[in-house]
Amino acid sequence: MSTVTARAHPNIALIKYWGKRDEDLILPVAGSLSLTLDAFATTTTVERVAGLDRDRLELDGQVRSGEQLDRVSAFLDLVRSQAGTSERAVVRSVNEAPTGAGLASSAAGFAALAVAASAAYGLDLDARALSRLARRGSGSAARSLVDGVAVWHAGTDDGSSYAEPVPAPPMGMVIATVDAGPKAVSSREAMRRTASTSPYFAAWVSSTEDYLERMVAACRAGDFTTIGELTEAHALRMHALIASTEPPIRYLRPRSVEVFDAVAELREDGVGAWATADAGPNVAVLVQPHDAAATAARLSGIVGEAQVRTVGAGPGAHLLPEGPAVPPAPGTGPTG
Ligand code: PMV
Repeated sequence: MSTVTARAHPNIALIKYWGKRDEDLILPVAGSLSLTLDAFATTTTVERVAGLDRDRLELDGQVRSGEQLDRVSAFLDLVRSQAGTSERAVVRSVNEAPTGAGLASSAAGFAALAVAASAAYGLDLDARALSRLARRGSGSAARSLVDGVAVWHAGTDDGSSYAEPVPAPPMGMVIATVDAGPKAVSSREAMRRTASTSPYFAAWVSSTEDYLERMVAACRAGDFTTIGELTEAHALRMHALIASTEPPIRYLRPRSVEVFDAVAELREDGVGAWATADAGPNVAVLVQPHDAAATAARLSGIVGEAQVRTVGAGPGAHLLPEGPAVPPAPGTGPTG
C-alpha cells in the first residue's frame, strides 16, 4: 500500500530517560519506564510518490522545511534503506494537543511515523522492530509503541534497545500546564551538556538502573504507592542532575514547584498523588482513577481549570486501516 495512516499517543516517563551512550543509534545510558496516554494523539499519513525529488512534510496543515523536514527525511531514509528503495514521500501529520499547551510530543510523532512509514514502504516489522525503529527518531518514541506501561531496555546495541509492556495497576495522570512556551534548551542539547559537564552523571546512571528494577517490580506487584514514590523521587533526581550542568539548566518554574508542593499536601490529606515533570515546566501527577477528581480540583486552584487535563492509559501506536487520511495542507493540491 502506498498511502498509510497511523495514530500514536505521547508517553510520560515514571523512570526518566536522560543521556545517550550512542547519539547516532540513540542508545540510552540507562533503561526507562513510562505510561502511554489516551489523549493528545498524533495522526500521520505517509504517501509514497513516484518522481518526487525530496520528501515533503505537512504538520498541522502547514508545509515545513529546515530542521523539521531534515529530521523526518533522515528517519524515512532508515525505512527506505531497509525497504531497498529511494522513493520519496509526502508526510502529513496532525497533533491533537492544544496548540501551545506544551504537550506536543516528538514521542507520539515518531511512533506514528514509524508505524505509517514502515507499512507504506512494505516492511513487515514486529512490535520489537517497530519500537527499535521509532527509537531512531526520538528515544522516548520507542515507548509510545506500547499500550499502557512500557519498559525501554537500555540494551547494548541496536537490536537489544527496545520497549515492551509491563503489567501494572490502573493509573492515570492529571496534567497541569504551567507554561505553554517552547523549551529554552532542547532535550537533545541538554542531555549532551549533562553527560559532558555534570559531576553527578555516573551516579545518575547507576541510580536509574536501580530505580528501574524497583519500579518494574512495583508495577508487577500492583504496588501503586511504591510506583508513585519512585516516580516523584526519580523526576526530582533528573531535575537536580540537569541543574548541575555547566552552564546550569533549570526547566521547572516557580509555579511548577508550587504544584509539587500541592501534591505533597494532597498526600497528607490521604490522596494518593505523586508528581513528575519532563524537560519543561509542566507537571504530570500520577493518580489512581478514584483520586483524579480531587487532584484536578487542587491543581485547578493553582494553574486555572483550563490548564488541567485528566488522562488515562492509552494504546500503543497503531495503523488506522480504514481511517481517513490526513488531508493535504490548504492550497497544495493532491500530492503537493
Ligand atoms: O526522546 P527525547 O529526546 O524527547 O527525550 C525525552 C526526555 C524526557 O522526556 C525528559 C524523559 C523521558 O524519559 O521521556
